[in-house]
Amino acid sequence: MKVIITSDKSNGSKKGFEIFEKSIANGAKVIGLATGSTPVALYQEWVKSDMDTSNLTSINLDEYVGLAPDNDQSYHYFMQKYLFNEKPFKKTYVPDGIKAIKDPEGASDDYNKIIAENPIDIQLLGIGRNGHIAFNEPGTSFDSVTHEVKLTDNTIKANSRFFDNIDDVPKTAICMGIANIMSAKEIVVMAFGDNKADAVAKMVEGPVTEDVPASVLQQHQNVTVIVDQAAASKL
Ligand code: GLP
Repeated sequence: MKVIITSDKSNGSKKGFEIFEKSIANGAKVIGLATGSTPVALYQEWVKSDMDTSNLTSINLDEYVGLAPDNDQSYHYFMQKYLFNEKPFKKTYVPDGIKAIKDPEGASDDYNKIIAENPIDIQLLGIGRNGHIAFNEPGTSFDSVTHEVKLTDNTIKANSRFFDNIDDVPKTAICMGIANIMSAKEIVVMAFGDNKADAVAKMVEGPVTEDVPASVLQQHQNVTVIVDQAAASKL
């Protein structure tokens, strides 16, 4: 793993965007994208850039079960708002949170097919405070592919800051599995702030264990971790 420590989130996000620019200039066409507060500044760099995205395909990590694309808490909506409205891609994929209400397996199978047909060239990731990647919580098998995930109380609590009421946070999500994420040719993980310091230390230096999903990234050949001083403080 290559670890880049930047002075702050703004510089880290610029560095992250540079990696995407370079990879796309070198031919990357299928881009794995993430939600959460971490990637927002990178998307702002992307929107400011003059990059032509009309040849790119995006595949997002996850979506809440039960939220339609026009729900402003859905990850579909998030991606439109922060990136796609300004930078239209050729094709964008996010798991189908509505189909998943009645048919989570069907929605997961559809997504695994999409990933198989569009192998991911470069994947962006954030990390949860407990080391989760996407919504793959501790204990998720490293062999997992897209599946329905029951969100832990901690993740519901952490993500409730985006909702009016904690009871509005969906209880489940459809999420790429760890094997899908590991199939990307290149991975960029970003983490900022001291509340990510433990997770970053375990991801980079801890034992590779399903108890810390992000630790699997030590086994990938092309991972760059971008952290600010605070998130790097326990390395
Ligand atoms: C959610 C998302 C993850 C994200 C994590 C951290 O659980 N599913 O993809 O990495 O939150 O979010 P944040 O970037 O807001 O700290």
